[in-house]
Amino acid sequence: MTDQLSTLLSESRRFPPHPAFAAAANGTPELYRAGQADRLRFWESQARELEWMTPWTTVLDWKPPHARWFDGGTLNVSSNCLDRHLRTARRNKAAIIWEGEPGDRRTITYWELHREVCRAANALKALGVKKGDRVAIYLPMIPEAAVAMLACARIGAVHSVVFGGFSAESLRDRINDARAVCLITADGGYRRGSVLPLKRFADEAIAACPSIRDVVVVQRRPGSPGDEAFANMTEGRDHWWHRLLDKADPDCPPEPQEAEDLLFILYTSGTTGKPKGIVHSTGGYLTQVATTMRYVFDLKEDDLFWCTADIGWVTGHSYVVYGPLANGATVLMYEGAPDWPERDRFWKIVARYGVTVFYTAPTAIRAFMKWGESLPAKHDLSTLRLLGTVGEPINPEAWIWYHKYIGRERCPIVDTWWQTETGAIMITPLPGVVTTKPGSATIPFPGITVDLVDQKGAVIPTGGGLLTIPDPWPSMLRTIWGDDERYRETYWSKFPGRYFAGDGAKLDDDGYWWILGRVDDVLNVAGHRIGTMEVESALVDHPWVAEAAVVGKAHELKGHALAAFVTLKDGQRGTAELKDDLKDHVVRKIGAIARPDDIIFSADLPKTRSGKIMRRLLKDIAEGRALGDTTTLADPTVVNRLKEMYEGEEG
Ligand code: PRX
Repeated sequence: MTDQLSTLLSESRRFPPHPAFAAAANGTPELYRAGQADRLRFWESQARELEWMTPWTTVLDWKPPHARWFDGGTLNVSSNCLDRHLRTARRNKAAIIWEGEPGDRRTITYWELHREVCRAANALKALGVKKGDRVAIYLPMIPEAAVAMLACARIGAVHSVVFGGFSAESLRDRINDARAVCLITADGGYRRGSVLPLKRFADEAIAACPSIRDVVVVQRRPGSPGDEAFANMTEGRDHWWHRLLDKADPDCPPEPQEAEDLLFILYTSGTTGKPKGIVHSTGGYLTQVATTMRYVFDLKEDDLFWCTADIGWVTGHSYVVYGPLANGATVLMYEGAPDWPERDRFWKIVARYGVTVFYTAPTAIRAFMKWGESLPAKHDLSTLRLLGTVGEPINPEAWIWYHKYIGRERCPIVDTWWQTETGAIMITPLPGVVTTKPGSATIPFPGITVDLVDQKGAVIPTGGGLLTIPDPWPSMLRTIWGDDERYRETYWSKFPGRYFAGDGAKLDDDGYWWILGRVDDVLNVAGHRIGTMEVESALVDHPWVAEAAVVGKAHELKGHALAAFVTLKDGQRGTAELKDDLKDHVVRKIGAIARPDDIIFSADLPKTRSGKIMRRLLKDIAEGRALGDTTTLADPTVVNRLKEMYEGEEG
């Protein structure tokens, strides 16, 4: 049994809902009953909360593994997020309160956001972008990111947002896979005081992207001398965002979309070297995102909701843009790092604007913990009333710290399990209804079914096993862009008829889920998904590398860190400089999030007799554990040599 599992098993603290919170909560036990009594009816009643242009005729058409939700219905996501609020008292309410890392601030009302989105939609139309065309978005966390996404949704274009921390090569591969016709980027973005030159990376990427016709560039650094030169605009291809929008009409009627029309593609790492374009639909996606937003975050009209995720990840799509705006909420957006210029930046922001609901990742919480409770203690956090976490398992210690020093023992915590593929939250407590246990994501959201199965796929009532989802859910991925076979194979073939999430989990006697993390070759580093094969491909791309194997090693802050075992080509020497060079090479190929913490040179890698690299053994070595069973190894001495080398280097 792993240390992690034994810690979780000994966790006996319980946090029942506070009666005052429960009395006013959006969530109710009735909601669970409704979800259980008739799933389809439950989702249908939630879908009615949206504004449809044509009602659906079928709630669910399920031909495994393909689901169609709300067929026959038409709607527009941007008009659900904007237009309908203009007809209410929300018209002049703040939609987005934004703070840039250098300290610049903007507040955008629903009225203003609507006009901006219409302008951007008209600008895209003027560039010839049509329904179904893919638009790549490579932006920092600025309001224009949300505007660009909503503008695509308005005209039925499919957005593919690429995290601004990804390298030019990663951007290029994603653009080419989706065959995007237009790229929206910025001259730069601020990160820890310096400017990330996004446009330069974009230029490097699209030199090899034949499908891109136009590049729209947001000027993030207005007034800075030499801006035009910095952005390196190419005549005819590149357009300044502000110039296009200045010319564009602020009225753009929303195009009706079929419920199953694509809303976006979002690339995520899988078990091969090539990221997968996860495809999300319109009606089902918005239904589940809006519903979970209302109940999981207990959203009230006067809340200020802050989800710290970047727009480049699914959390940024669902709970920075679509979920909050579909509910007419005010969302806070912050551009930069939590430790810039000081390590209390987040708490300053909470206090300055009066954030009420705060949603972040365990990796951030562990960093705050390390930085010490005196930092949040300096700030007025009394407006906070609910806290959330997502992205990786939260260790009970971090949960308790979050509860004590951020929630001041007053705020419920929702630990939400979901994935890029699920589109929206799947397992979570409903605050005010469900008693929480530190480290457990608790129970499935109403209308969602989750089963624990053993290695053979048999459902087991309690204990350890694999997390699977037997029934389709509205915001599920529809396929992998351009590769339906990979969709079937990856998610539905291990246990036929069941979606396999890739996570190991434990189900306790109360029916609570404890997510243990990935059981496939996907790693979770600081809440970011990275495929071991992607990093291995990046390493073997280096001219001196013959072979590489990458494993995740437990890391105090990041959850996991990357350790790479590298075999060099004959005649090459493994020097300290080469280690740095290899790390930089991975950053150039993928992005800084994939930089390996450790590189270990080795003459051989441990392999089974059939030639498969034994990653489990490498993980044991990287984490300094006693060696496991090596009897299936082709050459057992390889492991001992490696272990000696690794320990010698660490010491
Ligand atoms: O391993 C699970 C972990 O993050 C994976 C999904 O990563 P991604 O698609 O990048 O989406 C992250 C944000 C939704 C899952 O397979 N994970 C996510 N939430 C939790 C979690 N692990 C434990 N507890 C969670 N609350």
